[in-house]
Amino acid sequence: MQYKELKQFPEKFLWGASTSAYQVEGAVAEDGKSPSIIDMYEHPEDVADFSVASDHYHRYREDIAMFAEMGLKAYRFSIAWTRILPGGTGDVNAKGLEFYGNLIGECRKYGIEPIVTMYHFDLPYCLEEKGGWLNRDTIDAFVNYAKVLFEHFGREVKYWLTINEQNTMILHPGAIGLPKSGELPSKKVMYQQNHHMMLAQAKVMKLFHQMVPEGMIGPALNLTAMYPATCRPEDAIAAHNWEVLRCWNFADVPVYGWYHPLAWEYMKDRDLTPDVADGDREILENAKPDFIAMNYYSTATIAASRGDASDVAARAGDQQIMLGEQGVYRPAENEYVGKTQYGWVVDPVGFRYTLRKTYERYRLPILITENGIGAPDTLEEDGSVHDAYRIDFIREHLHQMKLAITDGVDMLGYCPWAAIDVVSTHQGYRKRYGFIYVDRDEFELKELKRYRKDSFYWYQNVIRENGKSL
Ligand code: BG6
Repeated sequence: MQYKELKQFPEKFLWGASTSAYQVEGAVAEDGKSPSIIDMYEHPEDVADFSVASDHYHRYREDIAMFAEMGLKAYRFSIAWTRILPGGTGDVNAKGLEFYGNLIGECRKYGIEPIVTMYHFDLPYCLEEKGGWLNRDTIDAFVNYAKVLFEHFGREVKYWLTINEQNTMILHPGAIGLPKSGELPSKKVMYQQNHHMMLAQAKVMKLFHQMVPEGMIGPALNLTAMYPATCRPEDAIAAHNWEVLRCWNFADVPVYGWYHPLAWEYMKDRDLTPDVADGDREILENAKPDFIAMNYYSTATIAASRGDASDVAARAGDQQIMLGEQGVYRPAENEYVGKTQYGWVVDPVGFRYTLRKTYERYRLPILITENGIGAPDTLEEDGSVHDAYRIDFIREHLHQMKLAITDGVDMLGYCPWAAIDVVSTHQGYRKRYGFIYVDRDEFELKELKRYRKDSFYWYQNVIRENGKSL
């Protein structure tokens, strides 16, 4: 659809940027923090681990001052469960509360709205040892953790995200690391874990509305619209199959209180349905999010399954690379979109398409909690970083978001990935996302000095003019 005039971004639009605790903080064993599953996973040998990361734990004041200089109106970060409750449940660690209290205070000092992710892939390892998300006790542990967070930070933080990318964790478990045994749980186990996470999320949303009535809470999902590879009807069915299984099934449960019908039949047919206890349905039906948080990186193009090995892509274990599944879908190429050097599809128009589809399905405001391009940036001798590719990527996506707003999509804000360089799970510091460069290599920490990239100044200007010229 073309318009005579584009709508402008809303006055109170949350121009922000994102990070997650384990990818930015470092200090993995400091001040009482216990290990999370991420800390205990098998780490690729030639990639930086999370022990120091970008040292945000010690430098958050300097970092937030830079975010304020960039003009950020919001900062999305995650709280590490393992800092707040090192035992997963039980004793609260005062030092953990103090750190996040200070971080939130620092944001508030500059008028930056803190947006908190409660759980970004980092389950306490002590809970994993007791069965992790397969154990129903983890539901209560998460609710208890949430209660501690709402009690301490509910007055200061208005926007909350329950779980980051539950769909990535369930469908691409290898994308966030491998257990030391090297073995990933079966699909049946993953769908049971998924059910427990859904219950935990529903209970937490309900509790939140009782404890923080003025606040807003929602799930953060990795959403990706699918194109059929051709106008062949079978390709359209396959694209729909995978869009439902990868995306909508994970948003339908929090919003509508039950699984997507097609996904449920898929699970039933393959003996993947979770055990549903008495009262589970009621728990799911009695909670609702206030918004949908969306991590958008790419679209995917899908063809009908051939029912043979050609259904399955050669590469595995990455949240944006579609793997294929016999009898369900097959990944296909799309000559109309670009690709990053890591094989992730670049599709700004697909962003508008995904926003429209999501809003059409749920009629809830949308907050973008991730979007961005990973690249091996170069620090020049004069301290500059010329990341024109990042500026182009974000500009094109923002233009499409403006079109989506004009289409009638209700947008709360935009928090691209990432506020500052963080450790990428697969490529460490060889693949950077931030507006601020952190001077360290994979293993040489140097001084971890911060440098403003060209994109920093560009985004500063976008925020200053509230996106008028996009
Ligand atoms: C998202 C995750 O899926 O992708 C982030 O929520 C992650 O934690 C981001 O960093 C980019 O992925 P990667 O593998 O390039 O770090």
